Amino acid sequence: MSVTKEQILEKLSIVQYPGKNADIVKLNMVTGLSVKDNKVSMTLTFPEAKSPFEKSLIKAVEATLKLIDASIEVEIKTASKVAVQPLTVEKETPLKDVKNIIAIASGKGGVGKSTITANLAIALAKTGAKVGILDADIYGPSMPKMFGIEGAKPTIEKVNGKDMIRPVESYGVKVLSIGFFVNAEDPLIWRGSMATNALNQFINDVIWGELDYLLFDLPPGTGDIHLTMVQGLPVTAAVVVSTPQDVALADAIKGINMFKTESINVPLLGLVENMAWFTPEELPDNKYYIFGKDGCKKLADDRNIPLLGQIPLVQSIREGGDSGVPSAADEKSVMGQAFASLTTQVLAQLEIRNSTMGATKKVEIKEGAGCSTH
Ligand SMILES: Nc1ncnc2c1ncn2[C@@H]1O[C@H](COP(=O)(O)OP(=O)(O)OP(=O)(O)O)[C@@H](O)[C@H]1O
Ligand SMILES: [Mg+2]
Repeated sequence: MSVTKEQILEKLSIVQYPGKNADIVKLNMVTGLSVKDNKVSMTLTFPEAKSPFEKSLIKAVEATLKLIDASIEVEIKTASKVAVQPLTVEKETPLKDVKNIIAIASGKGGVGKSTITANLAIALAKTGAKVGILDADIYGPSMPKMFGIEGAKPTIEKVNGKDMIRPVESYGVKVLSIGFFVNAEDPLIWRGSMATNALNQFINDVIWGELDYLLFDLPPGTGDIHLTMVQGLPVTAAVVVSTPQDVALADAIKGINMFKTESINVPLLGLVENMAWFTPEELPDNKYYIFGKDGCKKLADDRNIPLLGQIPLVQSIREGGDSGVPSAADEKSVMGQAFASLTTQVLAQLEIRNSTMGATKKVEIKEGAGCSTH
């Protein structure tokens, strides 16, 4: 028998995952595929823990492969992408239908938090997960532009007599941003309390529905917005983005320490090194370490923090952000694949976090008091 992996994947792309409007190959469920003589082995990685479709999909895979050749023997292991989430134990928690809340932070501005957030969200949605982004950068919202939905207006709907905001959907991701409510060219001249009120409204008065992942795109630094977030919600975990240069790393350490501070105590999934090197389109094998080499990698090694990925500085990522077509939207492109593999690492760390730790607690901080990150 001379069946190839390509033939197998092609055949398996007719097996649909019920309710997800996508097949099991597109959902990246077929992993660890190997073929030896007439024996095919694979792992089916389910997008949810305890999938009700496990048995029926295994049968469908076996039957489909027998269509290629009746003598094929199939060995299927199963895994799930995310362990059962302990988040929703606090009954009064807002967003109780959201399984994982992930904050994307940095210390320094402009290192690519919003770019990473947008691409991570799209790559997560491509695995079949339900994903939302809360643009918590109240003074400098980026999401409407990055998702190509600048003119969109979220609708307001009454739910149990209360006005609730419905997020705008783009690339399969539900997005909410202050940018939908203010003119893009007008500066938002607000006192800190107005910004935190706006964020609280985004936490409490939005129809997110059921979500597997809600990503918070945070502003730079370690300020009011961060405190409002951890006070308003039990944040499942944080991801810190940095460039490899010293000034960014110094601020990234402050970001890491903020989440680690005893009173905040949000688990860190790991670091993302953005703009890790520059690669010109016409010389794809050349790497120029403009911001220094492996700065985040070394920081991650020193502090025993997972390095989730290294994303290069490439023109198409900038163009994608500016034109509202994030790189992850094309999963076949080189950068689409880079974001898909970053997403796999994030999910692997989330799985570890969820299977080894309990729910994060909402932070109680007395008004007027701050938190030191020392
Ligand atoms: N890997 C990359 N390659 C090319 N351009 C990038 C990359 N990452 C980010 N950029 C570009 O750099 C600029 C800053 O990125 P972004 O807005 O994501 O940073 P940020 O950390 O969210 O900034 P802020 O602190 O202002 O919120 C954007 O124009 C974005 O398109
Ligand atoms: Mg940003």
